[in-house]
Amino acid sequence: MRLAVAGATGNIGRLVTAGLKRDGHDVVGVSRALGVDLLTGAGLDDALTGVEAVIDVTNGPATARDEAVRFFGTATGNLLAAGRQAGVRHHVLLSIVGIHDVEGNAHYEGKREQERLVSEGPVPWTIVPATQFHDFAEMVVGWTERDGVATIAPLLVQPIAPADVAAVLIEVATGEPQGRYLDVAGPETQDLVDMARRTLHAHGRDVRLVPTWNALFGPSMAGNVLLPGENARIAPTTFDEWLAAGTGSPSAR
Ligand SMILES: NC(=O)c1ccc[n+]([C@@H]2O[C@H](COP(=O)([O-])OP(=O)(O)OC[C@H]3O[C@@H](n4cnc5c(N)ncnc54)[C@H](OP(=O)(O)O)[C@@H]3O)[C@@H](O)[C@H]2O)c1
Repeated sequence: MRLAVAGATGNIGRLVTAGLKRDGHDVVGVSRALGVDLLTGAGLDDALTGVEAVIDVTNGPATARDEAVRFFGTATGNLLAAGRQAGVRHHVLLSIVGIHDVEGNAHYEGKREQERLVSEGPVPWTIVPATQFHDFAEMVVGWTERDGVATIAPLLVQPIAPADVAAVLIEVATGEPQGRYLDVAGPETQDLVDMARRTLHAHGRDVRLVPTWNALFGPSMAGNVLLPGENARIAPTTFDEWLAAGTGSPSAR
C-alpha cells in the first residue's frame, strides 16, 4: 500500500515511516526538509500521487494562539485539498487527549482547528487522540530552561511511548476510516515534574525544576483533564521501561 507521512522527519513521523517500510509499504515522506511545504503547498500534489492513506503527524509553532491556529489550519487545509484531488481514501490525524476541555493553550487551539477541518473535510478520516509522550517532560523543560533552572507544571498525565503511538497509527492507517478513535494512552499515570526529574537524572543533566501553574500550563490543565477516557486503548510500554531502554536519551537521537 502507498501511504504519505506528513511530518515524516519528526519524532513520531520517523518511527511511523520506519515501521511502514518494515511492513513492506511504499512510503512518501512529507516535510520541508524533504521538499514539501504544507503551508505553501509546494511539492504536495506530486507527493500525494497514487497515495491511498495520509498520516498527519506534523507539528508547528506553539507560542501564540493565532500562530498555532494559522499553522494547523493552513497546513491541514492544504493537505486535505490535495488529498481529495489525489483520491486519498483515508486521512489519519494524530491528536491529543483532553484538548476540548482545556482553555488558554495555544497548541491545543491549533489542534482543535485541525480536528475540525479533518472531521468536516472531504476525505474519510480517523482522528487518533493520544496522551503525552514519554519524552514530553524533557521537552517541556527545554522550553523554559534558563541557566540551569526550568519551570514546569505538575500535570497529571498517563504518558505513552512514541514507538507505541507509531504502531497504533500504522495499524489504523492500513485499515478502514473509523472517525474518532479511542483515546490512546500508556499504562500508568505520572506526575510531570517527577517524570522530568527522572528523565534529567537518567540523561545526566543537572537542571533545577520549579513546579508552577503560572508558566506555560495553567490550572485549566490540572486534575484529570489530560487522562484518557473510559475504554481507552492502553499501550504496553511503561515510562520506566522507556527510560531504561535509553531510546529517548540524547545519545540515541
Ligand atoms: N508531544 C506530545 O506529548 C504529544 C502528545 C500527543 C500528540 N502529539 C501530537 O503529535 C504530533 C507530532 O509531534 P512530534 O513531536 O512528532 O512533532 P515534531 O517532532 O516536532 O515533528 C514535526 C514534523 O512536522 C514537519 N513540518 C513542520 N512544518 C511543516 C511544513 N510547513 N510543511 C511540512 N512539514 C512540516 C517537520 O518537518 P520539517 O521541519 O522538515 O518541515 C517535522 O517532520 C503533533 O501534532 C502533536 O500535537 C504530541
